[in-house]
Amino acid sequence: MSAKSLETKSVAIKRKPRSETRGERVPPQGEGGFDVNWYPVCLSNDIRAGEVKGMDFLDGRVVVFRGENGAVTVMSAYCRHFGADLGVGGKVMGNEIQCPYHHWRYGQDGACKHIPIGGAIPKNARQFVFPTMEKWGLVFAFNGLEPTYQLPEFPIPADKLAIRTFGKIKCKLDIALQATNNVDFQHLIILHGLDIEKYPEISFHKYGLEQKGMVWRDNLRGGGAKSTVDVSLTGTNFLMFGGDLAGMNAYMGIAGVPIIRDGISDVYTIIAVPKLGEDPASRQATETVLGAIEHWAHALMIDDDLPITNNVSFRMDNLLNHDRYVMQMVRYLQAYPRAHPSAEYIRK
Ligand code: FES
Ligand SMILES: [Fe+2]
Repeated sequence: MSAKSLETKSVAIKRKPRSETRGERVPPQGEGGFDVNWYPVCLSNDIRAGEVKGMDFLDGRVVVFRGENGAVTVMSAYCRHFGADLGVGGKVMGNEIQCPYHHWRYGQDGACKHIPIGGAIPKNARQFVFPTMEKWGLVFAFNGLEPTYQLPEFPIPADKLAIRTFGKIKCKLDIALQATNNVDFQHLIILHGLDIEKYPEISFHKYGLEQKGMVWRDNLRGGGAKSTVDVSLTGTNFLMFGGDLAGMNAYMGIAGVPIIRDGISDVYTIIAVPKLGEDPASRQATETVLGAIEHWAHALMIDDDLPITNNVSFRMDNLLNHDRYVMQMVRYLQAYPRAHPSAEYIRK
C-alpha cells in the first residue's frame, strides 16, 4: 500500500447498529471476563528462590512465589481454608507455600499437601494456579485454563540480543485500546510528527495482527531520520515492533495487564538490540544503543501519548478513511474471547 492510496481510496466502513450516540466502544476489561491473554505479573528479578510476593492481578489478588527448584508459580492469594492472604506472611517451604494462619501448605500445582493439626486433607483444598512462564525477564500468567497461543520471538536469537526489561508504566487506558495507536495513522502523522513514506501491509489473524514494512521519517525530533518498522499485536496486550529505527537495529516488546482495583493497566517494556560484542567497549556501546532506544520510546509513548490517552473516553465516531484500520482493530477487540476462570478464587 502506498501513502497515496491511503489518502485517496474510499473504503466503506461497515457499522453495527449503534445503541450509543457517541459511537462504538470496546467493553471494558472485567465485563464478560478478561481477554484470554498471557499477562505480565512482575519482573523475574522481583522473585528470588524462596520468596513470595502478593500482587493485584485482574480484579483480584494473587501470590507469585519461587520454589527451591527455581520454578515460579502464580496462584490465587486467598487460602481455601479461612481465606488468609498468602501474600501477607506466607512462607515458601521447599517448593510449597505455607499459609500464615493455620500453616496449611500448598504445592506448585495448587493442591494442599500438608495440614499440621492433622486429619484428612479436604479434596477441595486447592488454590487456583495460572499457567505460568518466564520470558525476557518477566513472569507471565495466562488468563485461562490452558494457553491458547504462544508469545512471539524477536527475529534475532535470544543469545545474540542484549535485553533490558522494565516496568511499570501506569496507563489509565486499557492496554488493548492503547494498542490501537499503532494503526492510528492520523496520530502518527499529526501527534508524533512522522512523515509516513510507506504504509504497512496489515493483516489480522485469530490471535493478533501484523503490520509489515512501514517506512517513516521522524521530522519532529529525529531530524528527518528514516525508520523501517514491522509491528505485531499478539492477543490484545502484547506489542512487538522494531527493525531499523533511525539507523539502529532494535526491537521492542510492550506487555500490559489490567488492574481493575486501580483502574489502570500496568505496562512493561522490553528493549532488545543485537549485542555488539562481549568486550567491555562493545558492551558499553550496546548499552548506549539500549539507552537511545529507551529514550526514543519514552518520548513517543510517555511524553506524546499518555497525557492524552490517560484521559480519553474512547469511542469510535465520525470516521475518516485514515481511521479504517483502527475500526478494524476495534472489531477484532470486540470479538476477542474473554474468560475469568479464577474469579471465585482471586476476588476478595
Ligand atoms: S486460613 Fe490458611 S490455613 Fe487456615
Ligand atoms: Fe502514539
